[in-house]
Amino acid sequence: MEIVPLGPGFAAELRGVTLSDIASDDTAHATARAAFEEHSVLVFRDQEVRDEIQLAFSRRFGPPEVTKIGSQGTGSNFVILSTIGPDGKVVPPDHRLALRSKANQLWHTDSSFKRVPALASILSARIIPVDGGGTEFVSTRLAFERLGAGLRKKLENSFAWHDYAHSRKQIAPDLASAEERAALPAQCWRMVWKNPVNGRGAIYLASHAYAVESMEPAEGKKLIEQLMAFATAPGASYLHQWRKGDVVIWDNRATMHRGRPWPSHEARLMIRTTISATEADGVETMRPPSSQAAK
Ligand SMILES: [Fe+2]
Repeated sequence: MEIVPLGPGFAAELRGVTLSDIASDDTAHATARAAFEEHSVLVFRDQEVRDEIQLAFSRRFGPPEVTKIGSQGTGSNFVILSTIGPDGKVVPPDHRLALRSKANQLWHTDSSFKRVPALASILSARIIPVDGGGTEFVSTRLAFERLGAGLRKKLENSFAWHDYAHSRKQIAPDLASAEERAALPAQCWRMVWKNPVNGRGAIYLASHAYAVESMEPAEGKKLIEQLMAFATAPGASYLHQWRKGDVVIWDNRATMHRGRPWPSHEARLMIRTTISATEADGVETMRPPSSQAAK
């Protein structure tokens, strides 16, 4: 196995290994897991991309999420990110599916609005537009390490509120349905996720974050905006341009990502599996002290 760095201080390609190798071989898995902890984004090229292989690989990293209500693939372990309508044609730009893919173009980390946030996401490209449609990543770990010591300390002891409806309403007022809003109450998480393996902290924020606990709403919003801008500053990102056979896994604790636009008449179909964070991944350290006490 060869690890080839790709981005500015994070992201790497793993060569000489397949998803099936990692699914079936403990040594291959241990090497891939160590690379995941270190590089935060791992790219695999020229893979045989099938649902069963993707899921077997994904399970190696932890328990797969069951897709939430209101998403394509609900009730399964797969999220279907597509702009192809039931008639097989690409939907118009004002269609719900197109608006949802637009919402994915806001910087975010997956599942911070869920009761159990995500350790990892695994994305495979099934239909790729000719131009654009890439996925761009930043390291919120490197961003955290660029902050001054005072602010780092403050964030380690601060908590932010995340709400799915908040990110969706930036695109359209009712993009999160009443059903989704009822199923997904806002969640409160520490603003720094410390990786239990290497002890390195990362800013934990997303387009879903709307308030900081114990801060005036405007002040909290401003802090979130400043940190988001800081983490996503030009030059800090790795842009993945999808090719057939590509699979990417990323660490939702230490990165943010966004989809990039593509011509709206072109189809794009991606399949995502998502792995819930467990205690070993540091999830309990992310809960506010009151809810830890309540448990
Ligand atoms: Fe995402």
